[in-house]
Amino acid sequence: MRKLLVGVLASAILFSGVANAHQPVVLLDSDTTAASGPLLVDGTVSFAVRAAFTKAGQKKAFRAQFKEGDALAVQYLIVDKKPENALRNTSLPTLVITDPAGSKVTMKFNERTKFYEPWGKVNYLYLGRYSAEAKSGIYSFLITSKSKSAITIGVGEKEGVVGEVVRGSTEAAKPVASSTPKATATPKAEPAGYTMEKVKSNNSKGSCWSVINGYVYDLTKWISSHPGGEGAIISLCGKDGTNEFVAQHKGQGKAEARLSGYVLGLLAK
Ligand code: HEM
Repeated sequence: MRKLLVGVLASAILFSGVANAHQPVVLLDSDTTAASGPLLVDGTVSFAVRAAFTKAGQKKAFRAQFKEGDALAVQYLIVDKKPENALRNTSLPTLVITDPAGSKVTMKFNERTKFYEPWGKVNYLYLGRYSAEAKSGIYSFLITSKSKSAITIGVGEKEGVVGEVVRGSTEAAKPVASSTPKATATPKAEPAGYTMEKVKSNNSKGSCWSVINGYVYDLTKWISSHPGGEGAIISLCGKDGTNEFVAQHKGQGKAEARLSGYVLGLLAK
């Protein structure tokens, strides 16, 4: 009982500490259709899905799964800087949300509300929000560019939990619970949470955990595949590697997308 209470308190502190720490998901150039894009297994968990485009006519897409009656909360954001904040609404990418029954809604731009995200220290503008009671099943989100631009789609509002992101599954139509998709990120249950102490004990090439931006990652399998060499990853084992990662890879979709595949969970404090 006591343990449970401590756990709850720790989580409460943790949650407030990482308020608005939407879990980042970066769409790749190959995520051109909902079926090829990532699936957010629980669409109520707070995700920030980033999509960047180099010119008009490009498409990027993803999926999110909901249970009947879940809150479907979608926000369309741009970073409050050029070129995006200087673009007319008609030059920004469109977002079409298709529900499990096939009905489509297009995100309307009806606000320009400033929002400072303290965690990543980024100024955003909300351009539109869409809320509804979800139907059971998988929603798809298709973003189509009209010029060079980058946007962030916020999905879900549940903070402080790590959401599962599945890539490469061809079983889009099936409920995930009854299928066995190839999960690239499967947070495992860890009753006491992922503490710094545990990170420190996984400090070798054979078992390599690292903390990046408040999340714990198991990088063991990535060591031998890293294009920048084994040493760069080994040097992060057992410690907080945020500075090293950010210094090398900040804003790089490929590195962030790769990293998101190794998430274990939030760092417990
Ligand atoms: C967990 C952490 C890391 C992940 C997931 C990661 C991921 C990646 C990925 C996906 C690439 C290929 C990028 C591309 O093809 O565009 C890459 C390249 C590279 N990474 Fe990392 N990286 C990590 C940490 C680091 C660190 C800490 C350093 C340096 C200290 C580093 C140095 C490099 C370099 C130099 C390259 C370029 C290699 C080349 O193009 O020849 N990486 N990394």
